[in-house]
Amino acid sequence: MNIILLGPPGAGKGTQARHLVDGRGMIQLSTGDMLREAKDSGTEMGNMVAGVMARGELVTDEIVIGLIKEKLQGDTGGGFIFDGFPRTLEQADALTRLMDAEGQALDHVIEMRVDDTALVERITARSTCGDCGEVYNDKTAPIPADGKCSHCGHTEFKRRADDNEESLKTRLMAYYKQTSPLIGYYYAKDKLGVVDGLGDIAVVQTSIAKVLDA
Ligand code: AP5
Repeated sequence: MNIILLGPPGAGKGTQARHLVDGRGMIQLSTGDMLREAKDSGTEMGNMVAGVMARGELVTDEIVIGLIKEKLQGDTGGGFIFDGFPRTLEQADALTRLMDAEGQALDHVIEMRVDDTALVERITARSTCGDCGEVYNDKTAPIPADGKCSHCGHTEFKRRADDNEESLKTRLMAYYKQTSPLIGYYYAKDKLGVVDGLGDIAVVQTSIAKVLDA
């Protein structure tokens, strides 16, 4: 099964993708993670996109489509979870072409709805494990009291450079202007399922499972 998790920054896409990887053996393809990896390892492309990401703007379609194309040619496991991709209509058309070329199809697009105030609160309280990327939140999903990641036991945690109110405003604007048209695009393709992303993490997980298993 191949799915897209669609939603604004902080909607919980990464959190839910990790549950689907653990529970269903799916493969998470997060263009945000791929770009941060390129940035941290100082590749030419990583250096090129660092400023764009810090400001909260979108990286060019050409770069992210290239990243996804490479991954689609690898192991397909229990199916792909596209997390943070596509983000523009051009990326969505490219994904259809790439999947057609690999003989694959998209099964579901899950729109995760969360109101803007909650997004700001979530993003400014987020941290992730420096090793496995497990997602934490100072308020709703705190790092365990022993200071060790519950997933891998690592003891260092990171905060993202773009997780501040200033960048978040730009990221939200990019979502509403460039990404939200995908909601109508996938509705028209009969692929859209909507879940309330405001509930507890476990409740959202159940809502997503209902869409996938319907
Ligand atoms: P990316 O890394 O994709 O960031 P994003 O879309 O802004 O989404 P986030 O990762 O911030 O949020 P999320 O929905 O995964 O939420 P999470 O689960 O972490 O992109 C970063 C940048 O890269 C972009 O701005 C752009 O520059 C570039 N980029 C990436 N892809 C691109 C593309 N395709 N095209 C062009 N540019 C691209 O949760 C957030 C917090 O909330 C956590 O602390 C979590 O613990 C908490 N939380 C989660 N669920 C709940 C819940 N149900 N209740 C309470 N708290 C919750």
